[in-house]
Amino acid sequence: MAERSPEERAEELRELVAYHNHRYFDLDDPEVSDAEYDELVRELVALERAHPELVVAASPTQQVDGARSGLFAEVRHRTPMMSLDKTTSYEELQAWGRRMERFVLGGSNYVCELKLDGLAMSLLYEGGRLVRAATRGDGEVGEDVTANVATIAAVPVRLGGPAPEVVEVRGEVYMTVDAFDALNRQQAEVGGRTFVNPRNAAAGSLRQKDPTVTAGRELSFSAYQLGELTGGPAFRYHHETLEWMSAAGFPVSPYTETVTSLAEVDRYCAEWADRRHTIGFEIDGVVVKVDDLAQRRELGATSKAPRWAIAYKFPPEEKNTLLRDIMVSIGRTGKATPFAVLEPVVVGGARVGLATLHNEDQVRAKDVRPGDTVVVRRAGDVIPEVRGPVLPLRPAGSTPWSFPTACPVCGSPLQRLAGEADTYCINVECPGQQVQRVTHFASRGAMDIEGLGERTVALFCREGLLHDVADIYSLDLERVTTFEGFGPLSVANLATAIEASKARPLARLLVGLSVRHLGANTSQLLAAALGHLDRILAASEEEMASVEGIGPVIAASAARFFALPRNREVVERLRRAGLNFAGPARPDLPQVLVGMSVVVTGTLDRWSREAAEAAIKARGGKSPGSVSQKTTAVVAGAGPGGAKVGKAVQLGVPVIDEAAFERLLETGELTTG
Ligand code: IVH
Repeated sequence: MAERSPEERAEELRELVAYHNHRYFDLDDPEVSDAEYDELVRELVALERAHPELVVAASPTQQVDGARSGLFAEVRHRTPMMSLDKTTSYEELQAWGRRMERFVLGGSNYVCELKLDGLAMSLLYEGGRLVRAATRGDGEVGEDVTANVATIAAVPVRLGGPAPEVVEVRGEVYMTVDAFDALNRQQAEVGGRTFVNPRNAAAGSLRQKDPTVTAGRELSFSAYQLGELTGGPAFRYHHETLEWMSAAGFPVSPYTETVTSLAEVDRYCAEWADRRHTIGFEIDGVVVKVDDLAQRRELGATSKAPRWAIAYKFPPEEKNTLLRDIMVSIGRTGKATPFAVLEPVVVGGARVGLATLHNEDQVRAKDVRPGDTVVVRRAGDVIPEVRGPVLPLRPAGSTPWSFPTACPVCGSPLQRLAGEADTYCINVECPGQQVQRVTHFASRGAMDIEGLGERTVALFCREGLLHDVADIYSLDLERVTTFEGFGPLSVANLATAIEASKARPLARLLVGLSVRHLGANTSQLLAAALGHLDRILAASEEEMASVEGIGPVIAASAARFFALPRNREVVERLRRAGLNFAGPARPDLPQVLVGMSVVVTGTLDRWSREAAEAAIKARGGKSPGSVSQKTTAVVAGAGPGGAKVGKAVQLGVPVIDEAAFERLLETGELTTG
């Protein structure tokens, strides 16, 4: 194919960008992710920069994006609502800052704000009363959504304090993550369509003909920019306008900071890239603004955006990709979980090819179908999630996906009980379940048998060597040596690992047995309270429920499990194999942590947060929720928790990993490395 000329490519990009603007702003139904859109715009900007002759007035780079839905009356903004220049690199952000410093005399302060992910809104007050709320539209003309916006509790209908003749306040209408989740739950309950993200939910809630619908949605507002002002106080700085808006009754972000150097701008961006998931609402970057309003006037604007501000955008956490198929996996309890098989995509810093769809109702509420283009989200440490389909790209003739009626592994009927969300394969002999149960038993959080991963277990099950967890201890190792890939050394290692597992503490064994509802934490509690598997076998449901932290559901499930002859038989075979059935119970524990205060943060591999804290307390230590000078050590797992680690480093408190934590529990001594 002949290469396209820059002119042709620019034309093509202009059309694409205009089309995606239409989808995003007019229809609230974007077809591409923000990152993909930004990529197109960046390419167009670069092309126009290299070939200035290609710039035409109609190019989206010369206009403020956004448009109108046609549902509401049009309003012309008295001062245009401009967009912001965006960057995704620190270097570009710094280059912008250096341009500012060169241009303005005497240096400059910056106001750093969070970039809220919602909809820009202009609120006009006359004599202190809200007279008009308008969307941005194309920046020149927006839509009159006063009746809807007036239902948002955070938007004052009357201003507090002495009111200026006319004042325009600009800010963002958004939805908190909790409100978004609640709305989606509610939508799912009534069989409605769920929203793919809080921004779409906020937009959809605002673009309603009937304001009572908007009133029923939990929308929030945050003010970040003062527009027109007549008959009010004179301001020299942006931060003063924020203070004034706050005093007048507008919510203003408490996370805004006025800083005096570019280094601090950098620090703010880095801090918020890390903290973005700790605040309960979505942000997609940081907005940096020159604080001095006289300097702003000097700097002016291009036709599209002011020169005195820039948006630093975080790496995207949402991408669109193809949903190749929906399949069902069978877990160790027989639970049949639907999952998405995706065209692999890198999102939120990881490659995502599979994502759970949880259960039948979730698939129905999202109405995702094989062949759909779907929005995939992976934020921080959270597992990847399919948010929903991109409807305009749905292939013609597609039909809703339906849950299979037979187990994909053993073919027996799947069962979903009335009132339950999950579907189960109820054949205990199902090879799918057997493999999962044995794999779980051997996993790191349970008996930790190295070399006995899912693939090996599946092979041994297929070959008839393993049926249940007790078979591990009478494994025919002679046979194993005849399998491909199992040399004498690896078989010897496997034998050693199996032998070593016999001594694991009772709590690990309980975890390994796959008792429904009994997890790492509750296993620790039960093991500590009853001290021996025989006492658990003998305990009544009530006795177990009387253990602190063990609820009636867990107690009932454990009692049911140990009453089943099949499970009793497995336990007896484990006893004969020489497994440790003993505690340790709480009083027997060496009190090695007396006087120590150990804070746990992030996600550990082998301990839930609760179990780790219980283990500290069981040894006489304290485990508070925050770091102070008195803290002995901070145990840092993966993922969120950066703030506590930061505080520890600041105070000189040792930060230790999981291995050092386990040594600490054993010996009471702090070691590192
Ligand atoms: S200031 C002329 N501040 O980002 C500057 N915008 O593309 C006007 N946004 O449409 C915007 N948080 O919807 C500003 N703290 C913040 C913001 C913010 C989010 C949005 C706003 C605007 C878009 C810029």
